[in-house]
Amino acid sequence: MTVWWFATLKAEQLDEVLEIEQASFQRPWNRRAFEDEFACRDAVHYAVLSPGSRRIIGYLFVRAMSSEMHLLKIAVAPRWRRCGVAAWALRQCFEKARSRGFERMVLEVRATNRAAIGLYVKLGFSKIGTRSRYYADTGEDALVMAKLLES
Ligand SMILES: CC(C)(COP(=O)(O)OP(=O)(O)OC[C@H]1O[C@@H](n2cnc3c(N)ncnc32)[C@H](O)[C@@H]1OP(=O)(O)O)[C@@H](O)C(=O)NCCC(=O)NCCS
Repeated sequence: MTVWWFATLKAEQLDEVLEIEQASFQRPWNRRAFEDEFACRDAVHYAVLSPGSRRIIGYLFVRAMSSEMHLLKIAVAPRWRRCGVAAWALRQCFEKARSRGFERMVLEVRATNRAAIGLYVKLGFSKIGTRSRYYADTGEDALVMAKLLES
């Protein structure tokens, strides 16, 4: 039985998010980038909280674009990885998006990010395209992946 909590992420939880962000990405977002996202009208952000301390163990940032939800970011704190947190959180997010009438979830992922690609494939995403040399820091391609949100 899953005992994590899924909740809307609040701006006052940003310090906890920044800590996980630093440990998770080659080019982490800075505080300003998160603040801009919080200010964006079409943005939705969720937190996964640990059962006891209610500390943040993962988060997702999505944006509504027409009938699609775009997954901008998902990360799980290193010591909570491979416990099913990300898969569970994404399924929660699918439910929320479906209930708001969104038809598809779309994302971009570094072509070398095996963990993330494994996660997305497991949850039913398929590759719909490639953006060549999309990531300026390494020149890596981005895979564009999508999943229909039918019920
Ligand atoms: C990608 C990430 C969010 C996965 O989080 P997680 O909570 O560990 O993932 P889960 O435990 O829910 O794993 C679900 C599935 O994803 C795949 N997966 C997760 N980690 C993996 C890894 N290190 N290697 C290969 N496959 C992996 C597996 O298919 C796994 O299913 P399984 O456990 O039945 O094999 C996490 O590794 C992370 O935060 N990475 C850094 C940030 C990042 O790259 N985010 C994605 C790009 S925005």
